[in-house]
Amino acid sequence: MVAVKIFVLLAFLTLVYCKVARRTEQDIQNVEAYIDSKKGDINQRYRLHYHVAAPVGWINDPNGFTYYKSEFHLFYQYYPYDSVWGPMHWGHVASRDLVHWKYLPTALVPEKEQCFSGSAVVDGDTMILMYTGHINLDAEPWANETQYIAYSDDGITFHKYEGNPVISSAPNGVPDFRDPKAWKHGDHYYVVIGSKTDDNRGHVLLYRSTDMKNWEYLNIIAESKGDSYMYECPDFFELDGKFVLLMSPQGMESQGDRFKNLHQTGYIIGSFSYDTFEFIPEVDFQEIDYGHDFYAAQTTEAFGKRVLVGWFNMWEQPHPEAEDGWAGAMTLVRELKLVGDRITMQPLDAMTGLRDEVKMIGVLQPQQELRFGKTAELIVAGDLSQKIELQLEGSDGGEKAWIRWEPEVGKVVVDRGSDDIRQVQWSPIGMDTWRIFLDASSIELFCGEGEVVFSSRLFPEGGWVVTNTGPQFINVQAYSLGRSVPW
Ligand SMILES: *[C@@H]1O[C@H](CO)[C@@H](O)[C@H](O)[C@H]1NC(C)=O
Repeated sequence: MVAVKIFVLLAFLTLVYCKVARRTEQDIQNVEAYIDSKKGDINQRYRLHYHVAAPVGWINDPNGFTYYKSEFHLFYQYYPYDSVWGPMHWGHVASRDLVHWKYLPTALVPEKEQCFSGSAVVDGDTMILMYTGHINLDAEPWANETQYIAYSDDGITFHKYEGNPVISSAPNGVPDFRDPKAWKHGDHYYVVIGSKTDDNRGHVLLYRSTDMKNWEYLNIIAESKGDSYMYECPDFFELDGKFVLLMSPQGMESQGDRFKNLHQTGYIIGSFSYDTFEFIPEVDFQEIDYGHDFYAAQTTEAFGKRVLVGWFNMWEQPHPEAEDGWAGAMTLVRELKLVGDRITMQPLDAMTGLRDEVKMIGVLQPQQELRFGKTAELIVAGDLSQKIELQLEGSDGGEKAWIRWEPEVGKVVVDRGSDDIRQVQWSPIGMDTWRIFLDASSIELFCGEGEVVFSSRLFPEGGWVVTNTGPQFINVQAYSLGRSVPW
């Protein structure tokens, strides 16, 4: 009798499980069919040629950046059904070189829970995603955020764990508890999660586990003194002998040229011990990118180096591409180095393989212009004792910007007009050239060896026209670049 009962129960559970599994598979097929049906309608004018963006719909934070079975995987917060934020899925791309990308099927679809940001770890042949399950509530606190996991044996199809959530509340019970970034060290998995104190100061929590399912809370590794109400998207890693806590604090007030975006992404350098779980800061929070559009960055290890990708947008800004049926992109992947008190970011070496046509190797005179299609890379060298200025505009109009060196104040400026300026002091630590990447609706400026980097979106019409609007002759190497993200 007991055996029969157990058998019936098992059969029932299997049936329920299969039904649930079939439902999510069907959900994913529906999403993919929808994407396929809409792809052809997208206006291509602002579509990026070598930056990851969704085929259709809205994306934000990069997620699950990892290496699995000879490919890098990158996921992103995704709402396929509109070009504004909506219930979060995980979109998915993969690459062998972090330059050329292919689309894979949507990895996670929301069910009871929305699939908020998270990360990935690899255990043998299995990829494990860890993400925040976000559930809206009808009454205060309005939302419940807990941590979920999902498994894959092929890097394409993901199965949510039946025992979710694996962490069912923040230690202090606050509802803001999200963006787990997990990694493996020795015999343990570790995870950092963004959250806040009872009196609304951002902090980062550290946990560990032996199986990704049962988690032991260890410590708070960083806590705001009051300048930020929430720390989002933490990432924690070793870099050139130090530990770095990368994160995206919300609500910091601007101070002079600093913290001009609505929310910031930056880092604290310090030391950390896996015995005491204490992170001792040595260099205070500083921004990692000085541009208008950069948030929620995440890192992974690639080719023995630490590499980073960020969301190439900012909350509550106009997203002009949204009227074309898509919104949001990823920045170029950058290689990180620790140089003294700061992190430098440089494009990957493999980016030179995207160079298509040489547009100029020589001297660009004052008022001389260079014309490109939708893409360009420029390496610019001038005399830093005098002003340098490049005007970036569309051959058919649209938005314009200027990149400027102001020798009197020692600042690099990215100016989108109408006082929409980002600027920062620059003292070259080595090379004193600029490397500029232009895509159909984006600018990335790497100064010197990457000690100052700006990522800003811009929406020109037509091809790029770059004009030397400064007073001096400048040396320029210029190329058009090929496509590395499919139509
Ligand atoms: C949030 O979800 C967890 C896990 O399902 C549950 O234990 C907890 O009671 C929920 N909290 C609220 C406020 O609903």
